[in-house]
Amino acid sequence: MTIMRKFKIYGLLAFLLCGGMLNAQQTAQFTLDAKKIGAPVQSTMYGLFFEDINFGADGGLYAELVKNRSFDFPQNLMGWNTFGNVEVLKSNPLFPNNPTYLKLSTSGHNHKHTGIENEGFRGMGFKKGEQYRFSVWAKSESDAPQKLRINLIDSHNEVIGSKDLEVKSKEWKKYELEISPKTTDKNGRLRIFLASQGEVYIEHVSLFPVDTWKGRNGGLRKDLAQALADLQPGVFRFPGGCIVEGTDLDTRYDWKKSVGAVENRPLNENRWHYTFTHRFFPDYYQTYGLGFYEYFLLSEDIGAEPLPVVNVGLACQYQNECCVAHQPVGELDDYIQDALDLIEFANGSTDTKWGKLRAEMGHPASFEMKFLGIGNEQWGEEYVERLAAFSKAIRAKHPEIKLIGSSGPSADGKEFDYLWPEMKRLKVDLVDEHYYQTPEWFLKSATRYDNYDRKGPAVFAGEYACHDHASGKDNNFLSALCEAAFMTGLERNADIVHMCTYAPLFAHVDAWQWKPDMIWFDNLSVVKTPNYYVQQLYAKNTGTNVLNLTWNKQAITGQEGLYASAVYDKNEKCYIVKVVNTTKESKAINLTITGLRKNQTLTIGECTLMQNMNAGAVNTLENKNAVVPQKTTATLNGNVVAIAAQANSFGVYKITE
Ligand code: AHR
Repeated sequence: MTIMRKFKIYGLLAFLLCGGMLNAQQTAQFTLDAKKIGAPVQSTMYGLFFEDINFGADGGLYAELVKNRSFDFPQNLMGWNTFGNVEVLKSNPLFPNNPTYLKLSTSGHNHKHTGIENEGFRGMGFKKGEQYRFSVWAKSESDAPQKLRINLIDSHNEVIGSKDLEVKSKEWKKYELEISPKTTDKNGRLRIFLASQGEVYIEHVSLFPVDTWKGRNGGLRKDLAQALADLQPGVFRFPGGCIVEGTDLDTRYDWKKSVGAVENRPLNENRWHYTFTHRFFPDYYQTYGLGFYEYFLLSEDIGAEPLPVVNVGLACQYQNECCVAHQPVGELDDYIQDALDLIEFANGSTDTKWGKLRAEMGHPASFEMKFLGIGNEQWGEEYVERLAAFSKAIRAKHPEIKLIGSSGPSADGKEFDYLWPEMKRLKVDLVDEHYYQTPEWFLKSATRYDNYDRKGPAVFAGEYACHDHASGKDNNFLSALCEAAFMTGLERNADIVHMCTYAPLFAHVDAWQWKPDMIWFDNLSVVKTPNYYVQQLYAKNTGTNVLNLTWNKQAITGQEGLYASAVYDKNEKCYIVKVVNTTKESKAINLTITGLRKNQTLTIGECTLMQNMNAGAVNTLENKNAVVPQKTTATLNGNVVAIAAQANSFGVYKITE
């Protein structure tokens, strides 16, 4: 980043803060009322939004290393190089939903070779000494056993691991072996030779690290799943995002295609392949390998309430004028049934059709799903009339499920103003709001919910992120700090804001379509952004109840560039105060805790600070720790806590009883 640009970003912060600076000698007098334990903070308050964008699932969290493993991309050999005699076949398929397979035949000469080579997702990440599980469905044409040679190749075209596999049958069978590379490489490939003089048919060629999240065969990338677990999310929204809708209804995310044997989950296009022509990814498809079962399991693993979103019978409204592309209102039965069946798949007893499938996949117990989003970023009457039909049918059968409606794609405006009253009329439980906005907007909107109607549905801030256009939308400290400031407003209004999820979640450094994103990764490692750490600090310090925190009897929403909120944690018996200082001056704060019991003593507990004088600071693969939370402290004198809120900082202070 140029000095000039840094200056501009920094200048922006300074500008936002002007308006009566507290002089260095003055101390801000905050008051925390410990007596009035306020509204509960929902355990779902801080969570995750997942979508297969930026190689989030295929090429990302889903640990499969082979791209186009079933040869069913529209260009059947995309991602593959072939040599020698290789035929693409589709007749009499082994897996009807993914019909394509290959025939490898002898080259007819000892010095010529037949085989295939897969390029992975911008390469394959191999770690020295780790085991990789190769598998393939194969059969030979004759009774003579055939041999395949499986090679792991590094970025210099060296063989770094090799094993032979014997195909012994004329019937389709799954073969497996493990290979361990002798060096580490993040741009490796998989090469398969026909190493005998005959013919072999192959289908669903797969390569996974053995060391996946929870050691599951064919599972998730361990480091990425761990990063999610470390966030301690309360809720987990899936599978999007626009992906829910599809560019047309045929390509919407159809959850039923994402369950059962992975080999037979049909390929779907991924709209992020072509959404932006300036970031075009013609090799981006959805295998559904990370499908709804894997999603529910991961939610359970990381202790987050699953919140699936289903299609409401509308294809993406950005891409389709009303209403030819959409499902007519009178013909929604199949779509509504899909939603009901998803509830059955998650929660139904094992003697129901979908509950039985869940049990067969390995989870007889219910996933205890409680929330369901109906539609993504929908708008207009066409949404409301469809939502009404869904709501009626789901309420009738599953009154226990909390339904989430949309307020459109923007934080305000015509659609937003039309939809909120409609959501109230339809009595949805939560309304999904989305805002990808500037730093200025985020700071200004710390008061957004202070005057929201308390009688209507609760708020789910289902997609949000601070977009700092001046930096090219970097995940920089400025954006994280503005989000932290804004989130004091979410916390203060936790009586009506029940959930919030930053978006998008993941991005591959070599294959992203959208930024900023919370977690970046390459084929071997992960980078947590400053925005990640802000989310984590909120989620780890959710507390159980809102407390009233004031300065001159006012909520702290930007006076002198300070933003603050507080919660009580009944379980840990502590007060947790979050303070954001968006100025370039350090601020002295005296926090007086009133309403304490007689003789009640306090101690300073864990205190954490994120601070950086460079608003443009980012974490990168080369420097992952430019902005990370550090331990800090505060001083206690009776019931007064002295906090030195450093310039450009976000601090979380725990005061225990
Ligand atoms: O998060 C990226 C996209 O932004 C989502 O798919 C969509 O819902 C929103 O417009």
